[in-house]
Amino acid sequence: MKRIRIPGLLDIVVSADSREIETLAEDPKLDRAYRDLSLPLNRYVLKRVRKALQIDGKPLPTVAARDAEGRATAQSALWNRLNALAPHLSEGPDELESLAAYVRGTGLADACGPLVQQVVGRLFISDFEATSASWNAAVVLDKAPRTMNPVLLAWWAVTKRVDYAKRLLSRMVGGDLAGVHAVGIALHNIVSGVKVMRQLFNDPSERIALSPKAAGARCLFAPDSVLRQPTAPVRSVKEELTTKTLVLLKLQAANTNSGNGDIVFLRETWSRCPAEQWVPALLEGIWQRACRFPSKSASQGDTSGCPFAPPESSD
Ligand code: HEM
Repeated sequence: MKRIRIPGLLDIVVSADSREIETLAEDPKLDRAYRDLSLPLNRYVLKRVRKALQIDGKPLPTVAARDAEGRATAQSALWNRLNALAPHLSEGPDELESLAAYVRGTGLADACGPLVQQVVGRLFISDFEATSASWNAAVVLDKAPRTMNPVLLAWWAVTKRVDYAKRLLSRMVGGDLAGVHAVGIALHNIVSGVKVMRQLFNDPSERIALSPKAAGARCLFAPDSVLRQPTAPVRSVKEELTTKTLVLLKLQAANTNSGNGDIVFLRETWSRCPAEQWVPALLEGIWQRACRFPSKSASQGDTSGCPFAPPESSD
């Protein structure tokens, strides 16, 4: 755990340790209410994040307070809905063919984003069609709370790019705030995973060795970090945290260091991701399907080593 503190100005604690993160994430006092704005630099960070991740004053679910009205009910309803879809998805249904083709090596390496966005968008609107505009909007929205580039920030302020991105994505998912989060922000973690899966599939030894579950697990990426602030002093970790402190939980670094899959989705915590079963099932399904029809491969000669491929006639 590291602390950056300038008395009267800034107090930020950063943790990339999976045990520490589990302790902090389970603590209901570590919230996303972000009420204490008394330190100017903390206030600047919080205002940036909140402004970027709200639509018409309503926060996206990942920056909503634990006890925000309707949050927990919506989280649990989405969790149930996505879990019901997961078993079928993990079998590699037809709807995953374009992503499976990408993993087999078809198309350009950067074609992945819109393909993922379409599959995620269809969870919310059945005929969701990803376009270059919707993908660009997702790229902008992902950067918006994090960039410190003053030129980019000034340009976005003039052109209202972030507002435009949010409104476009919101329209495309019927105004569902979890949907905006999914097609604008969460999908980037899946895109990172599918890109790694393409590399794994391209390596004959990995293709032979990996079961769909193992391949999916190798391709899980967590959000870089999530932001919390205590609603009351916290003494359960090395540093004492006050209500002024901002706490940055570096999930992907902790995932890389520990391989703890629970950290990726903050499972077993009040803010657990509703897609914690759906995403692993999606990755498993893509690998399963890429292996099932390896002869569709555009760029790889040697696909015969895929142990999950049934006889050729099954295509
Ligand atoms: C690899 C993909 C994904 C990862 C690693 C991931 C991870 C996470 C994590 C760590 C959180 C907790 C955030 C926090 O505590 O501040 C979260 C929250 C959330 N995620 Fe995901 N997520 C992924 C994909 C998705 C998808 C596809 C959806 C929607 C279909 C989704 C919907 C949500 C929602 C609505 C929340 C807020 C839950 C709440 O606190 O009310 N996520 N996700």
